[in-house]
Amino acid sequence: MEKAKILGHRGASGYAPENTMEAFRLAIQQQADGFEIDIHITKDGEIVVIHDDTIDRTSNGSGNVPDFTLAELKQFNYNAGFEHMFPVAEIPTLKQVLELVKTHNLYLNIEIKDIMTNTGKYDGLNLAAARLVEEYELVDQVIFSSFNHNSMAELKESYPEIKTALLHFSKLYKGEAYAKSAKADALHPLFSVVDKSIVEQAHQAGIQVNAWTVNQEADIERMIEAGVDAIITDYPDVGYRIRESR
Ligand code: G3P
Ligand code: CA
Repeated sequence: MEKAKILGHRGASGYAPENTMEAFRLAIQQQADGFEIDIHITKDGEIVVIHDDTIDRTSNGSGNVPDFTLAELKQFNYNAGFEHMFPVAEIPTLKQVLELVKTHNLYLNIEIKDIMTNTGKYDGLNLAAARLVEEYELVDQVIFSSFNHNSMAELKESYPEIKTALLHFSKLYKGEAYAKSAKADALHPLFSVVDKSIVEQAHQAGIQVNAWTVNQEADIERMIEAGVDAIITDYPDVGYRIRESR
C-alpha cells in the first residue's frame, strides 16, 4: 500500500497566511507532498488563489473577488493573522502556483469554489482551470475537487484525462458507486466520516479517498490507519512526522 500523501491545506496555513506563496513554500520546506488550494475568477478572467469569494477576511481590503481585476487584487496585502511574521503576502494566480508545482514536482489539489455563486461569474472556471493544467503538462500531478459535483462531472466530460474529486461533509450512501456515476477519481470527505470500511470499498471500486482537514495528531493517525490516500492538513510538518514514524 502506498503511503498517504501529506497535503498542506491552503498551504502550511497553520503557520503562514493561507493560500499564499509563503504558505506553499513553507509546506514544501515541511516536506509535504504538495498542497490544496482554492480558486476564484477575477473580473478580467484571471484565475486567482483565495478561499472566500470576498477579500475581506484574508486581506486588508474588502469587496468581491469577481469585481476586481487581477491588477487591483494584487494591490492588497493578504497576510491577515500573520502580520508580524509575514509583513507582505500577495494573492497568487493559478499560473504562479502551477509553476511552483512543476519546479518542485509536487502534487496539487485545486478546489474550485464554484458553489453558492449564483452570479454566473463562475461559469467556465472549471474548464478554464483544467485548460491551464493541461498547458503546464501537470495532468498527472493535479486533482480537482468541488462541493459542486455537477461542475466535476462537466469537467470530466470535457477533459477525461483530468482527475476529479467530490467533496462532501456527511457519509455518502454507496459513495464509491456515486463517485463512479460522476466518473470521479476520488472522494474528498470530511475526515470525521471516514473509516476503514469506507476506504476499502472505495479502493475496491478504484476510487481514492483523500480526507480533510485533519489537524489533530490522533486524527492523522486514525486516517493513516484507515488507509486514506491523502491527508489534507494545516500542519504538514505534523502529518509528515507521524507518517514517517510509523
Ligand atoms: O478541500 C478540502 C477543504 O479545503 C474544503 O473546505 O472550506 O477548507 O475549502 P474549505
Ligand atoms: Ca479548500
